[in-house]
Amino acid sequence: MKRTIIITGGAGFIGSHVVRLFVNKYPEYRIINLDKLTYAGNLANLKDIENKPNYRFVKMDICDFEGVYQLMQEEHVDGIIHLAAESHVDRSIKDPFTFAQTNVMGTLSMLQAAKLYWESLPEKWEGKRFYHISTDEVYGALEMTHPQGIEPPFTTKASSGEHHLAYGEKFFTEDLKYQPHSPYSAAKASSDHFVRAFHDTYGMPTVVTNCSNNYGPYQFPEKLIPLFINNIRHRKPLPVYGKGENVRDWLFVEDHARAIDLIFHEGKVAETYNIGGFNEWKNIDIIHVLIKTVDRLLGRPEGEDEDLITYVTDRAGHDMRYAIDSTKLQKELGWEPSLQFEEGIEKTVRWYLDNQEWMDNVTSGDYQKYYDDMYKNR
Ligand code: NAD
Ligand code: DAU
Repeated sequence: MKRTIIITGGAGFIGSHVVRLFVNKYPEYRIINLDKLTYAGNLANLKDIENKPNYRFVKMDICDFEGVYQLMQEEHVDGIIHLAAESHVDRSIKDPFTFAQTNVMGTLSMLQAAKLYWESLPEKWEGKRFYHISTDEVYGALEMTHPQGIEPPFTTKASSGEHHLAYGEKFFTEDLKYQPHSPYSAAKASSDHFVRAFHDTYGMPTVVTNCSNNYGPYQFPEKLIPLFINNIRHRKPLPVYGKGENVRDWLFVEDHARAIDLIFHEGKVAETYNIGGFNEWKNIDIIHVLIKTVDRLLGRPEGEDEDLITYVTDRAGHDMRYAIDSTKLQKELGWEPSLQFEEGIEKTVRWYLDNQEWMDNVTSGDYQKYYDDMYKNR
């Protein structure tokens, strides 16, 4: 079947993996990557697919309602996978307005443009899908009732390695009430509500997923894992917030992209699916693994760089623990993460060490010239 799909935020971290997967796996689809190219957008993430015939890049702000509406009409778009957002919690604490603008108003603009376009067609909603990618942070924070860790209720391929403890009995399930704490998660929560409202009010065929922390290649080095890998490599301090005891639930980015593919095609309209691999880690434990791995791969004595750990003032409103229950997705659609954390981290560290040029382009700001070089005069 032929389809024309807009993927927003496709030049970012997760979006670039989703674009790559769809462009390669579905040559019969037309994939339009709509991205404003903020500081987080990097077209070098997509070098390997940028000349494929079923791919088009469009530099556009999701808040540009007229532009988005026109693009949908021109391209006869029947699917939207919406990832574009401001995504970094620390930035949201400094500048909440940008987060409300992009994450709330931008999502509304995408929804309204899709509604007007799809309602104008004879077949209306038939064969259409608006898939909104969200975060587990909308559920707030879980308590850390078992700081030493307990056996989790489920294991997956990804969590069956050495480390698969849970730090409390409670998990984020799809029916939990929203309790966002940061301006980032408050804005994402609001966008989720708008998506559901468009289903309930107008009948738009929507689906929402809430995923845990992603890691892997092409992540902007403001986030914990790429920032720390790069700092260890260059022997720079590692700023650990608070005591480093906060827990995050980590998923390899390609496993998230596979889940998005499955849910886009097979997820039920109006449903919510939580995505995560039962893979909880305290920040400080991950940091020890990163130090060991980087040291080993660079031929340094393992653990030599432990003294880079620097405890700094905690993040304001720092959520203690995130832990996703992805049983619904596993049971209903048969998804399971493919990689054990140990494998995923090894792969990720190797990627950043082997792709120092990518990292240098990002840290120097040169990556922002890539659009001008590649696309401006086309
Ligand atoms: P990212 O910051 O790496 O990328 C965001 C992309 O969106 C960039 O390419 C940026 O240029 C683009 N963008 C930002 N504002 C835009 C605008 N106004 N118009 C058009 N494009 C715009 O983000 P990410 O980490 O890849 O996250 C992608 C999505 O997944 C977000 O919606 C985020 O909330 C969600 N999510 C992320 C994680 C994670 O661990 N990173 C986990 C769960 C959910
Ligand atoms: O849970 C999903 C979310 O995961 C996504 O919705 C967000 O877009 C994504 O950024 C991520 O949010 P976090 O705030 O959990 O990710 P971050 O990498 O910023 O931080 C991970 C943990 O590490 C968190 O407890 C804060 C801590 N940290 C982070 C940085 C950048 C540090 O201790 N030091 C740091 O320098």
